[in-house]
Amino acid sequence: MSFPDRLAAVQRMVEERLDHRLAGMGDEPVVQAMRYAVTGGKRLRAFLVLEGAALHGIADHQSLDAAAAIEAMHAYSLVHDDLPCMDDDDMRRGQPTVHVKWDEATAVLAGDALQALAFDLLTHPSGVAERAQLALVAGMAHAAGAMGMVLGQALDIAAETAVTPLTLSEVERLQQGKTGALINWAATAGPVMALADPGPMRRYATALGLAFQIADDILDATGDEAKTGKRVGKDAGAGKATFVSLLGLEGAQSRARALVAEAEAALAGYGDRAAYLVAAARFVIAREM
Ligand code: IPE
Ligand code: IPE
Ligand code: MG
Ligand code: MG
Ligand code: MG
Repeated sequence: MSFPDRLAAVQRMVEERLDHRLAGMGDEPVVQAMRYAVTGGKRLRAFLVLEGAALHGIADHQSLDAAAAIEAMHAYSLVHDDLPCMDDDDMRRGQPTVHVKWDEATAVLAGDALQALAFDLLTHPSGVAERAQLALVAGMAHAAGAMGMVLGQALDIAAETAVTPLTLSEVERLQQGKTGALINWAATAGPVMALADPGPMRRYATALGLAFQIADDILDATGDEAKTGKRVGKDAGAGKATFVSLLGLEGAQSRARALVAEAEAALAGYGDRAAYLVAAARFVIAREM
């Protein structure tokens, strides 16, 4: 199976699992908004969970709840990221954002409930050792919280009004929280479930996460809204601290390429079995969406 076919298969599996979980939650507007918010997306984080798990002998059916969980958490982060008090965006995944389609209160609450849903999914029996499953839950709490994604988002918003521009190491710290933390959790979920050494996958994810955010910043500067499904050209106007604002377009592109090579090197010990993860790293910087 090619990488695009495997990614498409992951997208279908995750969509189905999330649909199934949300189907039992009734039809209140907040639940409709949750369903809407988890629809679409590349499912890169779910892919990292399923492939990192497969690499450590864990079958898709055992890691699928964890894959759905990280996508629910990610969807929550996007709903809140788009709010008027944050990035104030009206388009996401080619559709109106949740607060535009419903209202701000519904968007806040749908995000809150998607975060709860992520933990709910993680507690489903998966057949892996209970202490491994507990480690996944704790790891997600750290990745999503005030030392992870939330910290990164707070630094991102604060940078908009900072008196002096952020340095490269400050932007890297911001990125490690805002996008790095959830990507790291996703890529290490497999070895954590298998009670194996998460070191190589952590090194892979650290390089990949950074390359991913650089590509996101480049797409904001040069991308096509019809492909990204979100507004472009907004970061500079909002005074965001990005890799493009610091390194320039070419500097950012060459840094991203070096990081993909680093991500690939981290997987060398797995040989050909890591081929999909290597392809994912290349995809992260070649993507147009
Ligand atoms: C976009 O994430 C937001 C960031 C974390 C930079 P993705 O590019 O993975 O968004 P979807 O899930 O594919 O829509
Ligand atoms: C969003 O980063 C990160 C999270 C949602 C945690 P961005 O603000 O750069 O993402 P986009 O560009 O809106 O997708
Ligand atoms: Mg943002
Ligand atoms: Mg944003
Ligand atoms: Mg962005």
